[in-house]
Amino acid sequence: MLEVTGLIKRFRSRTGVVEAVRGVSFSVKAGEVLAFLGPNGAGKTTTIKMTAGLIRPDQGAVMINGLDLHHRQSAAVQHIGAVLEGSRNLYWRLTILENLLYWGSMRRIPYRQARLRAMDLLEQVGLSDRAKNTVQTLSRGMQQKVALCQALMHRPCVLLLDEPTLGLDFESSEGIKNMVRQLAADGTAILLTTHQLDVAEELSNRVAIVRGGQLILEGHTKAVLQHYSRSSYAIVTETPLPSAILARISELPGKVQVISSQRLQYVPLEGDTETLYRLLDLLKPYPLLQVGRHQADLAEVFQQVVNSEGDI
Ligand SMILES: Nc1ncnc2c1ncn2[C@@H]1O[C@H](COP(=O)(O)OP(=O)(O)OP(=O)(O)O)[C@@H](O)[C@H]1O
Ligand SMILES: [Mg+2]
Repeated sequence: MLEVTGLIKRFRSRTGVVEAVRGVSFSVKAGEVLAFLGPNGAGKTTTIKMTAGLIRPDQGAVMINGLDLHHRQSAAVQHIGAVLEGSRNLYWRLTILENLLYWGSMRRIPYRQARLRAMDLLEQVGLSDRAKNTVQTLSRGMQQKVALCQALMHRPCVLLLDEPTLGLDFESSEGIKNMVRQLAADGTAILLTTHQLDVAEELSNRVAIVRGGQLILEGHTKAVLQHYSRSSYAIVTETPLPSAILARISELPGKVQVISSQRLQYVPLEGDTETLYRLLDLLKPYPLLQVGRHQADLAEVFQQVVNSEGDI
């Protein structure tokens, strides 16, 4: 649905040239959510703006549904919806409804249809009773929701979301997350940028991490989490273990770390599936509070990947 290849963007400023994006490629299929992550200044927003057709790449191409976006008067733009940083695509002096209808007319939706669509979307985000209020009188979270409604007016098949839940309260961000899930289930291809890595982990099927304008990791979210989950076990006992037992445990093959007399960390040798049970055997007389395998989350993956050394 969305295919981005070899995007490059340089900005010229007084202090020199900034290479914001240095050869980024990715694709998002229908129904997929790609979490597009990276530290501040990594080039995410610049990539999203090029993908939305708002700025021209120096090199590279964006194909939407087989159409080249940066070709003159491309029809591809009709298939994209975008929510940019700080909901800057709204007119502050117009009402919510006027904003949505204006956008509808830009996307050539007949008036009556646009009105129905607008009210339906506002209902979904809980803003139908504010439809006649000007955007400047809304809170930041409400503006963010209106920006999302606007992006969805023409039922785009590609949706670009730059920090969609930033600054939203718990309930509102749950609402937006549910909308994203529903849109993906309906077949929308979604590119999601966020610094809230728990949101990214919850919503994405795939994840891409950029640093310094280049992709440094790309893969299925589940596979990435699996890859970064160390094969280590945490064991917690209800009562302190006698030192004789701790000594015997320490002699087992693999790496045993006695964190306290009630808390152990165990990393088996590669391919060793038996020693864990010998360890549990030694612990048999002592009631266990917890035995768990360490599971990495996206925050941990992000930290490891972004902080890793390496030429970029
Ligand atoms: N219009 C511009 N003129 C000059 N430099 C720019 C411009 N827009 C972005 N940059 C630079 O390009 C780099 C990438 O910026 P970008 O906004 O894409 O980062 P980001 O990944 O979205 O960061 P954040 O997480 O803070 O939103 C930064 O070094 C930024 O200063
Ligand atoms: Mg940004």
